[in-house]
Amino acid sequence: MVVPETQDKMYYPPDDLQRDAHVPEFNSYLALYRKSLENPEAFWKEVADEFYWKKPATGPMLQYNFNVTRGNIYIKCMEGAKTNMCYNILDRHVRERNLGEKVAYYWEGNSPDHHMTITYSQLLSQVCRCANVLKKMGVKKGDRVSIYLPMIPELVYTMLACARIGAVHSIVFAGFSSESLCERIMDAQSSILVTADGVYRGDKLINLKQIVDEALKKCREKAPPGVTKCLVVRHYTLRIKSGAACNKLQTPWNSECDVWWDEEMRDSPEECEPEWLDAEDPLFILYTSGSTGKPKGILHSVAGYLLFTSLTFKYVFDYHHDDVYWCTADIGWITGHSYITYGPLANGATSVLFEGIPVHPHVGRFWEVIEKYKVTKFYTAPTAIRLLMKYGHEPLQKYDLSSLRILGTVGEPINPEAWQWYHEVVGRGRCPIVDTFWQTETGGHVLTPLPAATPLKPGSATFPFFGVEPTILNEHGEELEGEAEGYLVFRRPWPGLMRTVYRDQERFESTYFRKFPGFYVTGDGCRRDKDGYYWITGRIDDMLNVSGHLMSTAEVEAVLMEHPAVVEAAVVSRPHKVKGECLYCFITLNDSLEFSHTVVEGLKRLVREKIGPIATPDFIQNAPALPKTRSGKIMRRILRQIARNEKDLGDLSTLADPKVVEILFSHRCEAA
Ligand code: PRX
Repeated sequence: MVVPETQDKMYYPPDDLQRDAHVPEFNSYLALYRKSLENPEAFWKEVADEFYWKKPATGPMLQYNFNVTRGNIYIKCMEGAKTNMCYNILDRHVRERNLGEKVAYYWEGNSPDHHMTITYSQLLSQVCRCANVLKKMGVKKGDRVSIYLPMIPELVYTMLACARIGAVHSIVFAGFSSESLCERIMDAQSSILVTADGVYRGDKLINLKQIVDEALKKCREKAPPGVTKCLVVRHYTLRIKSGAACNKLQTPWNSECDVWWDEEMRDSPEECEPEWLDAEDPLFILYTSGSTGKPKGILHSVAGYLLFTSLTFKYVFDYHHDDVYWCTADIGWITGHSYITYGPLANGATSVLFEGIPVHPHVGRFWEVIEKYKVTKFYTAPTAIRLLMKYGHEPLQKYDLSSLRILGTVGEPINPEAWQWYHEVVGRGRCPIVDTFWQTETGGHVLTPLPAATPLKPGSATFPFFGVEPTILNEHGEELEGEAEGYLVFRRPWPGLMRTVYRDQERFESTYFRKFPGFYVTGDGCRRDKDGYYWITGRIDDMLNVSGHLMSTAEVEAVLMEHPAVVEAAVVSRPHKVKGECLYCFITLNDSLEFSHTVVEGLKRLVREKIGPIATPDFIQNAPALPKTRSGKIMRRILRQIARNEKDLGDLSTLADPKVVEILFSHRCEAA
């Protein structure tokens, strides 16, 4: 890697940012990067020294086996050390750093009328009270607690309460269906669930408790006794509803199992001694889509995740004490875990915690919130940028965005038009954009610019973060030097990498380590250009990325096949202006049935109900037959090309019946 000299259009860090940055130039990045690879022990030890360890480590900072031919895959960080995540990200600031009065979160509700400020000491006391409530409900170290909450302060209280007592949280995004929730509760074997009565998303009222009850009923039917206690936040009833006249929500109640959050919290003590955990004890499970359709419970552990989220947050957003940082993700995804909760709190940062959506009650909401809290660092997804671009400059012109210093994106490749718009219109050309590539599995940023050090090329996640050693392999597992395109893999772990798939070490090894022994395989394609910049080219497995959410085609196909009218289904991706990619489904119906609008709507509803609104297909096309090889394998390449209306299909000689292609083209959906 060299300091880039190139023909490409580059964007250089602004001088004023470089003046007091943690990493002020590219050469300092290179020096630190080299140190992190050549002497990882010293590098990570220095990071660990910032934190509190009840007992020091007896083992090295990192130990691992990445090679399946040499035995089980494992990654360990600071073996022998004892610590507590919650202590490090709350008590340490309040007790040792005098930050008790500092704002941890500005909570901004779905409606601009709802907002609240939470200081570090207030956060600590709420977390301790919640920890005592959980303990009273019987939760012990190692137990799993499922959490199905919207973006409200109680979500943070609950996750940190789990971390405090050594329980393992498993947060399920509150947009998932009852079926998806049930599947995740069962896999995690949780006996406790934390949820809320209801919530508004934009102007849509969602009866969360009803979804929960459906999920719990399914769990009980499948494997009794299932969840035995359900703690319910009165969010709708206490915070949102104004006056009895608008009580639109009936909260179903099961007095054997359900308890109200506010009643339990009322007399709960504010003192709760943290449980001192082993460095490698589990911190949380978070489910992500797998290419077979069944979600994988990605498991992260305490010490390594603390070091990595804390360090990436500090460097990638060039964190300073007076920052107001806002990440617009939902905590139900990894971005929220790492960069709303753990990374910012580990640094003692002030963040915005946002319950709403970008276009409610008006399309300038993001910009209004930035002005209101004087946000300095803003982190969002390309899909949100593309959505807001549609409304032009005007909604931004009403607001003062001069507080912004750094912008970030995550979740999918950002197209050059969206990058330019973000840079020019939102950042007024003054703010570097950190395009952060990472995954649920990686725990934190792995390829990313550093805002004051890295010259940017729009669309490239640029270079590896400290401790991360990427390489590109061809199909035969050979490493490609210089300019190259192939599989993105990593040669060694960093502290925040996942430890296993919960209760499925075999799947962990086969998904990430078996294809190329000695490497962690991301599942993404990648190109390295002549200057050493990395460009993610997209998934190379049967996964697609809709609005930054990973989804497996198999998962959606399985749901479509549940419909009694469907005999066969194949799902592919098609580019979408706002979502990046969307779902295009080919459906073969039972001979006796007619393809109709009613069938299409019924199928969309089914997917929404079974997985959640994020998986709703944009296109469902009639497929009297599917293109198959003589051995009966569906040729997805051809389906993708039909979905995209690409007429030049190349070699069709392996098709059992080439006439199918013409028929499928004649039934193609033009518009959603
Ligand atoms: O395909 C990559 C894409 O999102 C996948 C990870 O998804 P998930 O585990 O849900 O985590 C998303 C948030 C970290 C990756 O395998 N992806 C994520 N960030 C980027 C990206 N693709 C291109 N550029 C990015 N910055």
